[in-house]
Amino acid sequence: MAKTFKKIDFDKYFMPDLKKARSRKQSAVVYNDCFTIPVNIQGYGKNKNAYVRTYGCQSNVRDGETLKGILEAIGYQIVDDEKNADLIILNTCAIRENAEQKVFGEIGFLKQLKVSNPNLIFGIAGCMSQEKHVVERILSRCDNVDFVIGTHNIFRLPQVLENVILSQNTVVEVWSKEGDIIENTPSYRDSKIKAWVNIMYGCDKFCTYCIVPYTRGKQRSRTKEDILAEIHSLIDQGYQEITLLGQNVNSYGKDLDSKLKFADLLDEVASLPIARIRFTTSNPFDWTNDIIDVMKKHPNIMPYLHLPVQSGSENILKRMNRVMSIDQYLSNIAYIKANIPNVAISTDIIVGFPNETEEEFQATLDLYDKVQYDNAYTFIYSPREGTPAAIMEDNVSMDAKIDRLNRLNEKVKTYAKANNDKYVGQTLSVLVEGPSKTNPDVWTGYSPNWKVVNFPGNVTPGSTVQVKIVAANRFSLMGELVEN
Ligand code: 5AD
Ligand code: SF4
Repeated sequence: MAKTFKKIDFDKYFMPDLKKARSRKQSAVVYNDCFTIPVNIQGYGKNKNAYVRTYGCQSNVRDGETLKGILEAIGYQIVDDEKNADLIILNTCAIRENAEQKVFGEIGFLKQLKVSNPNLIFGIAGCMSQEKHVVERILSRCDNVDFVIGTHNIFRLPQVLENVILSQNTVVEVWSKEGDIIENTPSYRDSKIKAWVNIMYGCDKFCTYCIVPYTRGKQRSRTKEDILAEIHSLIDQGYQEITLLGQNVNSYGKDLDSKLKFADLLDEVASLPIARIRFTTSNPFDWTNDIIDVMKKHPNIMPYLHLPVQSGSENILKRMNRVMSIDQYLSNIAYIKANIPNVAISTDIIVGFPNETEEEFQATLDLYDKVQYDNAYTFIYSPREGTPAAIMEDNVSMDAKIDRLNRLNEKVKTYAKANNDKYVGQTLSVLVEGPSKTNPDVWTGYSPNWKVVNFPGNVTPGSTVQVKIVAANRFSLMGELVEN
């Protein structure tokens, strides 16, 4: 039934609050197994379909798997088409304005589905739920939304659903706090071959442009025991690859009593019998070369690093609250390249940060020429309400920002192609994912250093095969199966 909203008493909802979201008290973090399904809701999803659409980063993808796992535990069948769904969740991203606009467009579009299925339950999760202006807009304008659930509240999805069923109002449950670690939530993995393993949640870095420390809370590291137990279970299920996940994996453990370092965790994980291990994101400021020493020791740690630099100008980095010496960064890159054969390195870059000068942008292009990244995710700076950069004076026109992005992207393309060309004639081991999306006669998989490799032949998903590379383009390599 459509809900009507006239005068909204926001106080009666668990509304998000960015100021409270800055709290960083370690003592407030709960490590617990408190996920439960209330009796009323047990089996509620039987003979019903649920669809979860996830936007944004890998942390959100992993959260999407948790949301689906919970829905499955309530009895829902997880489907990949919203048209047949009885429950839809949009698991949103707040990192840039355009990500938010996309979600509001989608909310409008999904109105039609409620007309044809008035019992459809429709919820919003993810980082946008943690923003007050978003929740206010949903409450005042989107009468097809039944619930809004925060990133810290995911484990309470059964309780939120129970409230939705009992209530005529939109249910909002968003905690703005440090966040907790709830270990007993179920999970529905999107792949049977590769799995994400969170090693930490949240971020304490507060880069001035970034909303993540507000939407995902304080840095909270999982204990080594819980991480290893999850990986053991994935090995038992036959997973070939795991990726250790965190906003800033290099600072793993700093909030734990044990003060375990990321390099030591990685060393232990890599001693387990799992074919491929990756990790992301490694931030340059907490980078330590002992990670490379561990990578050298274990051939199952894949030679690929995502090291977001954001800018090549130390002045811009300072204003981003990412104080870092470019010389030090370059010397780390040199150490990595000298020690890890065939290593691939990618990065994230923001252009058009407030008052970025042409000279400062040139410093980014110069750094790119020096590192010659395999790939880069490039963005125009997008002001995020509540972050320090959003109130910085900005004299750079949008035309100049677009022009800088285009110039940078030309460089990204040139080096991506040149780096891929190096593999023509080489044989790479490829973990087969499945048929290519664009050509069902061709298989697709990843090389150790994260290159997409396409090849014809007769193989099984989840197997690792040898492929001789015969051609390269910017995004992928084309190869021929090498018979053993
Ligand atoms: N504007 C543009 N890009 C951003 N990123 C984070 N916040 C913003 C913002 N406000 C980019 C950074 C980060 C990546 C995940 O998204 O490059 O590394
Ligand atoms: Fe955002 Fe910086 Fe934390 Fe990355 S390290 S999530 S860019 S605040």
